[in-house]
Amino acid sequence: MNNLLKACIFDLDGVLVDTAVYHYMAWKRLALKLGFDFTQEQNEGLKGISRMQSLEILLAEGGLVFDEAAKLKLADKKNRWYCEYIEKMTADEILPGAASLLKELKSKGIKTALGSASKNAETILRNTNLLSQFDVIVDGNNITKAKPDPQVFLLAAGQLKVKPEECVVFEDARAGIAAAVKAGMHSVGIGNPAWLNQADIVVPALKDISIDTLNNLFHTKGTSYETVY
Ligand code: G6P
Ligand code: MG
Repeated sequence: MNNLLKACIFDLDGVLVDTAVYHYMAWKRLALKLGFDFTQEQNEGLKGISRMQSLEILLAEGGLVFDEAAKLKLADKKNRWYCEYIEKMTADEILPGAASLLKELKSKGIKTALGSASKNAETILRNTNLLSQFDVIVDGNNITKAKPDPQVFLLAAGQLKVKPEECVVFEDARAGIAAAVKAGMHSVGIGNPAWLNQADIVVPALKDISIDTLNNLFHTKGTSYETVY
């Protein structure tokens, strides 16, 4: 018998809320303080990447080298600025369709988890009133391996007590889709289909997905790529 949809696992930044802009503001502020500029385009490469890895990429762009202790201080500085920005977030910053999809899943008995690399996930969920919508939260404080490693999603499935093949992952980062594929889960890419071409399906935003479409992912054999635009 085919597997059925039992759980949805959501990435946070860029899927439920647009925090990418705040990450960018804080990284750019750090770059300027270090004496170089950091463009929005360069920032694209940081999506889904852990804080320390992001710092490594930023420093490489600026041609700067620091020892470990100095790098930890820089990452901490960036995080303090980022926390100032997200402290002011409200439910108005939830991306289109996210709140209603979470509610609908709950009403249909489909479990929900957060699967994010961010160590600030709970603050963001609390400030946007989304915290109570999740059965399980796995974030940067619970994992040792960053996406594209499947650890974050497998931990979430384990805590939800469902099999990987009964889950759908929602992700806007290429590394996140790769993690879902490695976990043996279905995946919905949010954003650019060319960039997220490992996903089962790609949509512009959560508002463009229905539970019927999700259920269909479990009955379609062979194809792994479809775009809905
Ligand atoms: C997500 C974001 C990344 C961010 C990472 C860690 O994956 O897409 O841009 O660097 O989380 O977030 P944190 O809030 O712990 O610095
Ligand atoms: Mg993301």
